[in-house]
Amino acid sequence: MSTHVDIDPAILYFGTPVVVLSTLNEDGSTNLMPMSSVFWLGRTAVLGMGASSQTARNLRERPEIVLNLPSVDLVTQVDRLALTTGSAAMSAAKAERGYVHVADKYGHAGLTAYGSDTVLPTSVAECPVHIEGTISAIHELGEPKLLAVEVAVTAVRVMPDVRLEGHPNRIDPDRWRPLVMSFQQFYGLGERVHPSRLASIDEELYR
Ligand SMILES: Cc1cc2nc3c(=O)[nH]c(=O)nc-3n(C[C@H](O)[C@H](O)[C@H](O)COP(=O)(O)O)c2cc1C
Repeated sequence: MSTHVDIDPAILYFGTPVVVLSTLNEDGSTNLMPMSSVFWLGRTAVLGMGASSQTARNLRERPEIVLNLPSVDLVTQVDRLALTTGSAAMSAAKAERGYVHVADKYGHAGLTAYGSDTVLPTSVAECPVHIEGTISAIHELGEPKLLAVEVAVTAVRVMPDVRLEGHPNRIDPDRWRPLVMSFQQFYGLGERVHPSRLASIDEELYR
């Protein structure tokens, strides 16, 4: 008996957290880019992004970044950043899809700039988590015009209410409510569903 069918999806975005990337424009202002092709291993973040974005251009010239993690209640502001680019000269493909050039992404989204500690791009004050870093490598992926950007994390700053009580350096996963994108739609996380055997490992052992 067959339980599955073959399909040919145009995208494989099965659900990842949304991140708003801060990078430095040539004029010293900060560009914001919503994205969700991200994963973390140890103190390294890996970001998947289109090579023609203003963000990719900024990172090649000025390799500093903030990964701002929006909570689910910031979805309206994040959605305002969709279909915008900080690049005045956008690709024909983006123009066709309805993208518009926006120089002031903070003003456009209704977000507030907050001075970062270790890098020049500003952080998004409303986001509960700010992960600052420098670019350690930019890899061209097998597919044309796609990049994997490696970020070496230099500082992490959070709003106190997402911390685990009694543990100043830990996040409480029951309090941290990330915004998630799945197949171009926004979601939040549901409740914890099962005890975790992995969680029997002391988090400090990952340090
Ligand atoms: C929720 C969301 C997630 C996105 N995820 C990605 C992504 O993972 N990688 C990417 O290259 N673009 C992603 N995009 C599209 C970029 O935001 C878009 O290319 C934008 O124009 C880049 O901004 P910039 O040109 O000012 O750097 C996403 C957009 C939204 C709204």
